[in-house]
Amino acid sequence: MSAKNGSIKLVAGNSNPALAQQIASVLGLSLTKASVRRFADGEVFVEIQENVRGADVFIIQSTSAPANDHLMELLIITDALRRASARRITAVVPYFGYARQDRKVGSRSPISAKLVANLITNAGADRVLTLDLHAGQIQGFFDIPTDNLYASPVMVRDIREQFDLTNLMVVSPDVGGVVRARGLAKRINAPLAIIDKRRERAGESEVMNVIGDVAGFTCILIDDIVDSGGTLVNAADALLANGAKEVYAYITHGVLSGGATARITGSRLKELVITDSIQATEAITAAKNIRVLSIATLIGEAIARTASEESVSSLFD
Ligand code: R5P
Repeated sequence: MSAKNGSIKLVAGNSNPALAQQIASVLGLSLTKASVRRFADGEVFVEIQENVRGADVFIIQSTSAPANDHLMELLIITDALRRASARRITAVVPYFGYARQDRKVGSRSPISAKLVANLITNAGADRVLTLDLHAGQIQGFFDIPTDNLYASPVMVRDIREQFDLTNLMVVSPDVGGVVRARGLAKRINAPLAIIDKRRERAGESEVMNVIGDVAGFTCILIDDIVDSGGTLVNAADALLANGAKEVYAYITHGVLSGGATARITGSRLKELVITDSIQATEAITAAKNIRVLSIATLIGEAIARTASEESVSSLFD
């Protein structure tokens, strides 16, 4: 595997070494030797231990928890590569953290997603490759080419294998996710329901109303992020209270912070399917109703196409 104008190098930060290794296998490459470690005071130190002069370099790093550490690693790796004369640097960020802070939610509040986009650009990235951005328009926060991939083809393949499609209902857990859910419903030719969710306080969610007749259906909740798990657990309860037969969820990014994994395990959700955009903790791996789908092949293919300057969007035709 080689780039159109030079060799491909894959450099991994510490956020998701398992995914980085799998992407390397998909591409038939080895990860570039690099040391990304901490000084005694916690500062990040990076050493790229191979020549990258003139190379088309892809840094694989989700800005997942600890978000600030992983973001800093990404920035410093980018700086190291730029100073080492890499020809082109692509930040491959399967989970783009800070994405939920994409607008001013009140007076004197930041737009952190834009700040993070600026930081990545100013560190020296030439391109960004990411997956299921919380809001598509965050792409516009970057003034460098940004490809936003979708996990939906991976999910659709799994749904076709796991379910009888004739009795499925796709459900958006909130009004903001309708476009995403509708897209998936169309792909599997299923009807769509929507949950009107009202969030009274940050970190809490409350289900108010199910729009659509879900009685007797196997429901599949679709969302980009599961964080505390509150949205999903409340949505599952609301759907079952409205007569749904059973409830599953397909969510791209398993943030699963705090007691989320235990909350999901103790819920009435039959199964939560997430991707490996964020490396699963031991608790997630052990959870009886959480399953992880890999997006390594999708990202590997997108990297190969970027390197050979072929269409990335046609992956989703
Ligand atoms: C909200 O806009 C997102 O799409 C998710 O629904 C939300 O981030 C999930 O958060 P939690 O799991 O904490 O309810």
